Amino acid sequence: MTVRVEQVVRPLRGELEVPGDKSIAHRAVIMGAVARGETRIENMSRGADNSSTVAAFRRMGVAFRRDGGTLCIEGGGWDGLQAPRETIDCGNSGTTMRLLAGLLAGRPFDAILDGDDSLRTRPMKRVIEPLTRMGGRVAGNEGRAPLEIHGQPLHGIDYASPVASAQVKSAVLLAGLQARGETRIEEPYRSRDHTEIMARGFGAVVERDGRTVAVKGGQELSATQLKVPGDVSSAAFIAVAAATIPGSDVSILAVGCNPTRTGVIDVLRAMGADIEVARSWEEAGEPVADLRIRGSELRGTEVEAELAPRTIDEYPVLFVAAALAGGTTLFRDVGELRFKESDRIATMTGELAKMGVRTEVRGDDVMVEGAGGLKSAAVESHDDHRVAMALAVAGLSTPGGISLSNEDCVRVSFPGFFESLGKISN
Ligand code: S3P
Repeated sequence: MTVRVEQVVRPLRGELEVPGDKSIAHRAVIMGAVARGETRIENMSRGADNSSTVAAFRRMGVAFRRDGGTLCIEGGGWDGLQAPRETIDCGNSGTTMRLLAGLLAGRPFDAILDGDDSLRTRPMKRVIEPLTRMGGRVAGNEGRAPLEIHGQPLHGIDYASPVASAQVKSAVLLAGLQARGETRIEEPYRSRDHTEIMARGFGAVVERDGRTVAVKGGQELSATQLKVPGDVSSAAFIAVAAATIPGSDVSILAVGCNPTRTGVIDVLRAMGADIEVARSWEEAGEPVADLRIRGSELRGTEVEAELAPRTIDEYPVLFVAAALAGGTTLFRDVGELRFKESDRIATMTGELAKMGVRTEVRGDDVMVEGAGGLKSAAVESHDDHRVAMALAVAGLSTPGGISLSNEDCVRVSFPGFFESLGKISN
């Protein structure tokens, strides 16, 4: 399908919430499924990625029910999982596939994990490697999905991960919780720590020392109740729209503000954006805040490599912010973007070029030139939810608007995205 996104004629105004955090919800479902007792998850997103994780555990015999807005999981402990009779379809969700690979490597049965065309192109060696070192038997198709897992007793390892990836870290920790002895994983930079926080919420002991996280094996999880904060990665699209449209004043309520995720706020502030934390509190061990964003003139900046793990999913929309800012923005060391739902360096620079934006890719650095003004064009999402939403945000500032094809993929993380934009643009 194709949608038209017209330039807004008035500033964006109003107050809204975004769906529950996708990363946190995956972890809540995974741990709830192997904990003992009934876990209750409030504000669970209905996005397709989270639904893939729920469907995976249904295939392994776990019972779920909805009680109003709350998802209830009947967990039977690690041993409550049953061998799936069919292939588990992870859809578009890299988190589902990589975290389940870690979990299932230590279960006493076989399973096959597969996904859509995009997921089948993404690198899985990064989880196969450490899981194999733990004694796991996980076979890919030249390092990609489908993954065949022959569950085994595992042993702990000391692993220095070459990539700062929360999915790799989480796969290793989920395997480590079931392994003999201790498992330690060190990362080059700290990635999001939702797995560590969630595991503690389910009663596990997880230790952290700088960039190293450790768990002892043989830990049982016990059921809990929690409320998922709003997804800062979804809030980012609304925030950039508000920050780049002069006169806007938008509040996004109850957004998860874990510092391992909020690089986007730091980058936008460095570009001169006016973002105020109106209220802050804690939910499920995670910091949460109401954010108020007012439109202002943005200027180019230099985004350092250290920011990458804290900002990784927000680069597509930050490229749009940079295109609308004065001057040039340099994004350093963003090579990991090539391994997302699409090659986001190629897809974003290609689509922005159609809108007259000049970009330059030098190795793993991306430079975006601002101040040119955007040109009306027909652009394409490449079936990547964050590319679709980033381009839609660009469309709001484009004279003559844009037409965006295959926009339906926004349901992966932000069902209701276009309705949310409508709510603040009237
Ligand atoms: C995620 C980790 C990140 C991120 C993805 C979600 C997670 O991936 O891009 O959208 O929930 O752990 P990497 O681990 O590949 O960096």
